[in-house]
Amino acid sequence: MSESGMSDKAILSCRSLGKSYEEGPESVEVLAGLQLELHPGERVAIVGKSGSGKSTLLNLLGGLDTPTTGSVWLDGEELSALSEKKRGLLRNRALGFVYQFHHLLPEFTALENVCMPLLIGKTAIPEARQRATALLERVGLGHRLEHKPAELSGGERQRVAIARALVNNPGLVMLDEPTGNLDSHTAQGIQDLMLELSTSMRTAFLVVTHDMNLARQMDHVLHLQDGCLTPI
Ligand SMILES: Nc1ncnc2c1ncn2[C@@H]1O[C@H](COP(=O)(O)OP(=O)(O)OP(=O)(O)O)[C@@H](O)[C@H]1O
Ligand SMILES: [Mg+2]
Repeated sequence: MSESGMSDKAILSCRSLGKSYEEGPESVEVLAGLQLELHPGERVAIVGKSGSGKSTLLNLLGGLDTPTTGSVWLDGEELSALSEKKRGLLRNRALGFVYQFHHLLPEFTALENVCMPLLIGKTAIPEARQRATALLERVGLGHRLEHKPAELSGGERQRVAIARALVNNPGLVMLDEPTGNLDSHTAQGIQDLMLELSTSMRTAFLVVTHDMNLARQMDHVLHLQDGCLTPI
């Protein structure tokens, strides 16, 4: 750890990360001051029972929610020290996010949804379309480019969300139950894509999953229990 609180090469780190929710007079502590550090190309799975705080943790690490205690550094920047605008730009550049329940834009096609992070990052439209198409083909959706989310199956929507998370070649992708509603063949394809990208592009993956088959293929498996992470 350097003075800034993170070791030089970590893509993501947090220290003393805590989160409590106020429920009337009571305070419910979900995360109790945990530490985590992820390096380029590293693959970590987080497992834990329902309600243990896995989604809460990902939301804090991805800058979607603010912690009660502690700090998060993404690509060397402390999230809480940035303005909302700078935090948004950093997230778009450095982070891909796949939510537990997909958040695709309903008015846009699969192709347009995947192009979006590139267009926000000022990539020219033809190049954005080409890269998005290539990635959608890779997740097996080359024949569904012009479909809107409502015209796709649950698993297809999840694959669009995964393509969108990867299209910017971010240093880190966080996934919340990416294979939760996929058949085993499609889940295996997603898993293979993650392993391949982590090797070829040094993309780090932080994946929350109930799927022990997926978890076991990551470099480390951490168990979230009583607000803390312990290696399995
Ligand atoms: N906005 C909120 N206000 C109050 N309590 C909340 C809020 N969000 C989450 N919680 C509580 O925090 C705990 C952790 O929720 P979280 O969604 O992080 O669990 P999880 O591990 O992702 O569960 P699952 O595996 O079911 O997705 C739960 O007990 C939940 O009720
Ligand atoms: Mg969850």
